[in-house]
Amino acid sequence: FEFTPANLAWAQSQVSKYPQGRQASAIIPLLWRAQEQEGWLTRPAIEYVADMLDMAYIRALEVASFYFMFQLQPVGSVAHIQICGTLSCMICGAEDLMAVCKDKIAAKPHALSADGKFSWEEVECLGACTNAPMAQIGKDYYEDLTAEKLGQLLDDMAAGKVPQVGPQNGRFAAEPSSGIS
Ligand code: FES
Repeated sequence: FEFTPANLAWAQSQVSKYPQGRQASAIIPLLWRAQEQEGWLTRPAIEYVADMLDMAYIRALEVASFYFMFQLQPVGSVAHIQICGTLSCMICGAEDLMAVCKDKIAAKPHALSADGKFSWEEVECLGACTNAPMAQIGKDYYEDLTAEKLGQLLDDMAAGKVPQVGPQNGRFAAEPSSGIS
């Protein structure tokens, strides 16, 4: 693995933001860029980033394996679905969403669908509890989901459509108030 020239230039600009000896502080953005380039974080990619930051591979792996934003196994070529399985989402139907994933993608999390287009996993609270149940797909949140809506989203994505992000029932937060009444 190595960064493309454009990604290498970007990575070097990130590293240069930190004082000499503190390059390891750039670990998260560099791992994220490596993941964007490859689709997931291969061992060679983690080693490459670790070398670039003068870190031991194990330290970079510790970071990569701590956050579920990083994928350490291949993901679907179209989308990796992260279903929130924490309290609010679980109460509001996360198990129904996971049943859709098991049915349409693969019985087990992190396995690829038969066509290689999708993968899924259960993750912890993504901070959008007010719009539970929800899922993160790529960088986007899809909220107020139902099993039917998620199934439609997957079908649309498989067909190359780009579904609208955000609440899937049209419920958006009220405009922020000025706090003065
Ligand atoms: Fe699902 Fe918080 S419990 S977003």
